[in-house]
Amino acid sequence: MSQGRIGFVVLLLIALLAALPLVSPGDAASAHQLEVFSWWTGPGEDEGLAAMVDEFKRRNPGVDFINATVSGGAGSNAKAILASRLLANDPPDSYQRHAGLELQDDVRSGKVVDLTDLYESEGWMEVFPPGLLDNLTIDGKIYSVPVNIHRANLIWYDPRALSALGLPGPPQSWSEFLEQATTIQSRGKTPLAVGPQWTQKHLLETVLLGELGVDGYLGLWTGRTAWRGPKVTQAIDTFMKVLAVSDVKSAAADWQPQLDRVMSGSAVYAVMGDWSYAYLALTKKLGWQSEYAVAASPGSAGIFDFLSDSFTLSVGARHSRLAREWLIECGSRLGQDLFNPRKGSIPARTDPDESLYHEYLAWDLQQWRDPNTRIVGSLTHGVVANNAWNSEIDTALGLLVQDGDIGKFAATVDDKRLETS
Ligand code: GAL
Repeated sequence: MSQGRIGFVVLLLIALLAALPLVSPGDAASAHQLEVFSWWTGPGEDEGLAAMVDEFKRRNPGVDFINATVSGGAGSNAKAILASRLLANDPPDSYQRHAGLELQDDVRSGKVVDLTDLYESEGWMEVFPPGLLDNLTIDGKIYSVPVNIHRANLIWYDPRALSALGLPGPPQSWSEFLEQATTIQSRGKTPLAVGPQWTQKHLLETVLLGELGVDGYLGLWTGRTAWRGPKVTQAIDTFMKVLAVSDVKSAAADWQPQLDRVMSGSAVYAVMGDWSYAYLALTKKLGWQSEYAVAASPGSAGIFDFLSDSFTLSVGARHSRLAREWLIECGSRLGQDLFNPRKGSIPARTDPDESLYHEYLAWDLQQWRDPNTRIVGSLTHGVVANNAWNSEIDTALGLLVQDGDIGKFAATVDDKRLETS
């Protein structure tokens, strides 16, 4: 090759190299990566996520899916870790929140991207129920995509245990529960199993709902029901009586061991959301209505205390294109039908393949859709109170369980409502 030709080839190579993007093999891999943050690690919680992730990977071949999960029911550990990551501007690409006021802080502090355009391009305004869309809308925009509907106001039991104790069925009111508790205790068993503090708050919410009814319960979050008034005082007093016949002094470490106490027969009831279905039916493989059963928590038949897991797109996400693909998966009919039968929830969409929802989930779907059902939102799982008020309620509840001072609890919750709104 002549010198001139060699020079030309060298120049050509330099030009080609300059045109290549400045990437290392590591960067190339990370460009096709997606980090999704949730608290679904536990038995009964991760299968649904895994099914949706598999489908997502099929649609996005070669994607490196980072399943950033932090264990602890109701996000009890995950939420603190997420908060510190958001504060440090090190967000996961997409993270789990609940529909409702839980996302308000993230919206106001600019942590999440407005997804209204995705709702329009995917036609989601037509496939999610209007009431849910209302709960997802903050300051006129929508910032997360719901994967499911969960029900919180449920009481789980082993029907064989009830028969052995001569109990006619699950209690229809909290006063009937307390009557049954006397019988149960006389037979050497614990009437109610509880877990860590968030499960006690979940219990409080269902006692308030059962004692105050729909309007009284809804008014707690809007200011129409007086926290300091006699009806609420009475309801909190009932909560204390219920707690007194529980195993709160040696509470279970999380919601799965809480249910284990019922299924092993040392306790008779547990109030918990319907993620329990995935644990009992799918993980433990117990028989519906023969080895485990469920009813609306006392006093709340015909009421659906809902919550909805939803995923966001972080501002500053490293992989926002793939994160949008992930959100499309979350909002798709197929994604929801893969996820929900395994998660123990029903789709947020109104057009699921109903043949996939059996046993408890068939009842759940029917209750959710029944026009006579009254729907309210969960406190413990992010719907009705913002994070600041919710965490003040946590602190006050911790003290209430210790000192039993109902007046102080009600007054603190009431005062903090105004301070944090
Ligand atoms: C809720 C969440 C459910 C389930 C439950 C127990 O907050 O919405 O999906 O994870 O906690 O961990």
